[in-house]
Amino acid sequence: MMMRSLKAALLPLLAGSLLLAGCERPPVDSVQHGFRGTGMVQVYNPRTVAEQMPANVAPVPLPSLGTDGPKAGEVYQNVKLLGSLSVNEFTRYMVSMTSWIAPAEGCAYCHDLNNLADDSRYTKVVARRMIEMTQNVNSQHKAHVLETGVTCWTCHRGQAVPANIWFTAPPQDLKANFIGDKGQQNQPEKSVGLSSLPYDPFTPYLLGTPKPIRVIGPEALPNGNRMSIKQAEFTYGLMMHMSDALGVNCTYCHNTRSFASWEGPPQRVNAWHGLNMVRDINTNYIDPLKSAFPANRLGPMGDAGKTNCATCHQGAYKPMYGASMIKDFPELAGPLPPYVKGGVAPAPGAALSGTLAKVMFAVGRSSITNESRAAISSVAGALVANTAVKVDLSGFADKTGNADSNLELAKQRAFAVRDALKAAGVADDRINLKKPEFVVGGATADARRVEINVAQ
Ligand code: HEC
Ligand code: HEC
Ligand code: HEC
Ligand code: HEC
Repeated sequence: MMMRSLKAALLPLLAGSLLLAGCERPPVDSVQHGFRGTGMVQVYNPRTVAEQMPANVAPVPLPSLGTDGPKAGEVYQNVKLLGSLSVNEFTRYMVSMTSWIAPAEGCAYCHDLNNLADDSRYTKVVARRMIEMTQNVNSQHKAHVLETGVTCWTCHRGQAVPANIWFTAPPQDLKANFIGDKGQQNQPEKSVGLSSLPYDPFTPYLLGTPKPIRVIGPEALPNGNRMSIKQAEFTYGLMMHMSDALGVNCTYCHNTRSFASWEGPPQRVNAWHGLNMVRDINTNYIDPLKSAFPANRLGPMGDAGKTNCATCHQGAYKPMYGASMIKDFPELAGPLPPYVKGGVAPAPGAALSGTLAKVMFAVGRSSITNESRAAISSVAGALVANTAVKVDLSGFADKTGNADSNLELAKQRAFAVRDALKAAGVADDRINLKKPEFVVGGATADARRVEINVAQ
């Protein structure tokens, strides 16, 4: 009897402390972030912020070793992206990159130490593509990263696999179809802030052609708005992730008067550009690398670990609370001008002349190979840095076989190069297409090319 009443008396107390365990100990700060009375306030716990600070500091950069001396492209055998750096700059970059990605393993994480030019380690192949990806983020996604930019450190922070990545979730096991499709719900996951919202809000929105995120109709009654509650739940799942990744609440980006309205904090526009950037990173860089990764790095659906907002932000409204590393690593700010054999590579701003690249094609094909892509992006980088320069594209063909269809092929190849340059940020009116030409002599592999020449 005694025991019972004690239990009864203790129970509410116990329940109360359990409830409070979810709350944070005061003091908690709040910062007004919109009009008074609209609830547009951000809540910060100074202790949590203080704990996060050390994890968000940029490492001290190595001192510059100077730009003099021979170029990496001249001295080394297999540098496709960084050839126009001096050997000193190149070495400083390799050492810094090692400290960002594999501080314990060292150079051997990516290199066969008996032959640094060898590409047989997947880590080196991935790292090369990651360099292009980082250059692309910093030059093509300024709408999001502004001049702050990112380096490998932003995502990796001293680890080969970044702390926050995602994989596509396997389809739900429907057993005998007894429980029905629960739409990825009622299974609290960290991906959606431990809510019971759909646990993979990434695949639909952050990879390939996105499903629509906006679900609210423009009118009070459901006139013509075909969006379902299930779709809205996926949108909310993504929003939970975005808030969690940035360490903010919904009013950081929304005026809660209407979630559909864009009149509110400018951060929402920034976030919209962020969504576009993340899709580009995943779709064009990381997903295609899945064949390069070993099986133990792939997810249950055979995909590579991909990026979301938390990969860079890691709980901060700006990665590393806005600290910028890019000024110390200009090689990551955008594609470098190509290293030209035997000559000095043109620095950004220096005069470009002659043939900038010969883009080679496979027999009968007009699609750009992965090898040529690096050359084209280097040229595009040089052109973006030298806005006064225009280029001529000349396609070549040989006279063997059907001359007309060869000329047509040469034309299609020139179109492909033009499109790739445009995609990399070179304006249309800086690219002239020349009439395709026949090469002198018989059939040669050299005929299957498009030359990018500085226009006279
Ligand atoms: C995270 C992967 C990674 C790590 C770690 C790394 N490298 Fe590299 N290294 C690369 C990539 C990628 C290239 C090719 C760059 C290019 O194509 O422009 C390269 C190229 C090189 C080359 C040119 C080799 C040649 O002849 O083509 C040298 C030299 C080199 N690295 C030295 C080092 C040294 C020294 C270290 C350790 C301090 C190191 N690297 C650590 C990825 C890495
Ligand atoms: C936007 C975030 C982001 C940036 C910036 C970034 N990476 Fe990565 N990196 C990733 C993701 C995501 C993976 C895939 C993780 C996995 O292995 O499953 C990855 C994987 C890698 C791997 C393979 C590691 C392993 O052990 O499997 C290497 C090497 C690498 N990155 C190098 C680099 C280098 C070098 C840079 C800078 C030039 C860089 N990364 C910049 C997100 C990023
Ligand atoms: C970092 C900024 C950011 C945060 C934080 C954020 N949102 Fe969003 N939200 C956006 C953006 C950007 C869109 C529009 C996406 C698009 O158009 O592709 C959006 C769209 C929405 C929509 C769809 C609006 C429509 O037109 O149908 C809803 C609903 C929504 N958010 C709710 C929330 C909720 C609830 C939270 C908090 C859990 C939240 N958001 C947190 C940026 C944010
Ligand atoms: C490749 C790294 C990277 C990824 C991935 C990324 N961001 Fe950012 N984000 C940045 C950087 C760098 C800044 C700082 C720009 C500046 O100086 O204002 C930033 C700034 C922001 C800001 C502005 C904050 C402010 O108060 O001005 C918002 C909002 C934001 N990011 C939202 C997102 C969302 C939402 C996602 C996921 C869809 C995302 N970011 C993914 C790098 C990233």
